[in-house]
Amino acid sequence: MALFSSKSESLMGVDISSTGIKLVELGKTRSGYELKALAVVPLPRDAIVENTIIDSMAVSQALLDAIEVARPSTRNAAISVSGNAVIIKTVSMPMATEFELETQIEYEADQHVPYDIDDVYLDFQILGESAEDPGAMDVVLVACKREVVEDYQLVLSEAGITAKCVDCAVFALENAAEVTGEHSVIDTQALPDEDAEVHALINIGANLININVLINGQMAFVRDQFYGGQNLTEEIQKEHGISYQAAEQMKIENFSSIHPEALERFYVGLTSELVRSLDFYSANHAEFPVQKLLLSGGCALIPGIATELEQRLGIEASVLHPFPSIKASSRKFDEDYLKKIGPMLMMPVGLALRGFDS
Ligand SMILES: Nc1ncnc2c1ncn2[C@@H]1O[C@H](COP(=O)(O)OP(=O)(O)OP(=O)(O)O)[C@@H](O)[C@H]1O
Ligand SMILES: [Mg+2]
Repeated sequence: MALFSSKSESLMGVDISSTGIKLVELGKTRSGYELKALAVVPLPRDAIVENTIIDSMAVSQALLDAIEVARPSTRNAAISVSGNAVIIKTVSMPMATEFELETQIEYEADQHVPYDIDDVYLDFQILGESAEDPGAMDVVLVACKREVVEDYQLVLSEAGITAKCVDCAVFALENAAEVTGEHSVIDTQALPDEDAEVHALINIGANLININVLINGQMAFVRDQFYGGQNLTEEIQKEHGISYQAAEQMKIENFSSIHPEALERFYVGLTSELVRSLDFYSANHAEFPVQKLLLSGGCALIPGIATELEQRLGIEASVLHPFPSIKASSRKFDEDYLKKIGPMLMMPVGLALRGFDS
């Protein structure tokens, strides 16, 4: 499922986020996926704020730099949208085939999307029979404002890149998680039973958390929340009385000197955000409690974060790594570097995987 896709050739995944551009190109071999090209290029602070491009020059320059570093074999990209720009809703509808739904989707969407239907890109995915209403089916409806996608397309085109596919961040995350083999997609049509596997994919970036709860590998709940590593940087700034830059540097280069109070306040905030989402999820899925949190994004690099969340939320937690499930030649890529930043690359990896959709 993607908001739009017009690809016929290979794609690179380009994650345009608040702290930087992450570019990933993958190849497919007989033994699985391999990393072909990679670049992580930082963006100046405030170039992108709450997912809105403020400084388009800085963003297109960073894209050009990413191309130069990675030297991908294509200029066609899959990108993602998230946060306020996207509306994702699970709705219950009378049973219909995918083909029938194509013709009705605008009418359905009109009732659930607070914008003029002509101003949005729409997509949907049939989840299967509704658990609450036998005879009806649950459908995930996605809408994204055209102007948001167009803003992204414009900066990309200035760097000579064409967005051939626009995906929702939470779906890209799901694709990436599938490749890591952490969870399995069982039967898409069967209703889950008491043995169901319930995993929450949680990508924690600098200012955004993307959550996707999967029951037997099937999306059951998605939500984006504004909270992330930036909050920790600000707590460090306050506690240590230093600049934002210095706080950011301390976090990455000297984590052990962070005052425990700053870390504690960050975790209290993070925990309450996550509890809020998990409560929303369980309001409709009380019989399928989340069994495992699978963490990714830059904040998954925080030392000990899985153990910390496990204790605070009482749910098993681990960090997702795209490598070594995705092979990377040690001649071309620094193994230690990939090992270190892998969890932060789940999103662009998920986007790059769009190039292999059948
Ligand atoms: N080694 C590390 N230890 C602690 N925090 C880290 C580390 N590396 C990165 N981070 C933090 O992770 C965040 C960046 O993560 P990520 O790249 O996933 O965010 P982003 O995609 O740019 O932001 P968003 O998607 O929220 O707009 C920053 O807040 C950064 O300080
Ligand atoms: Mg991000």
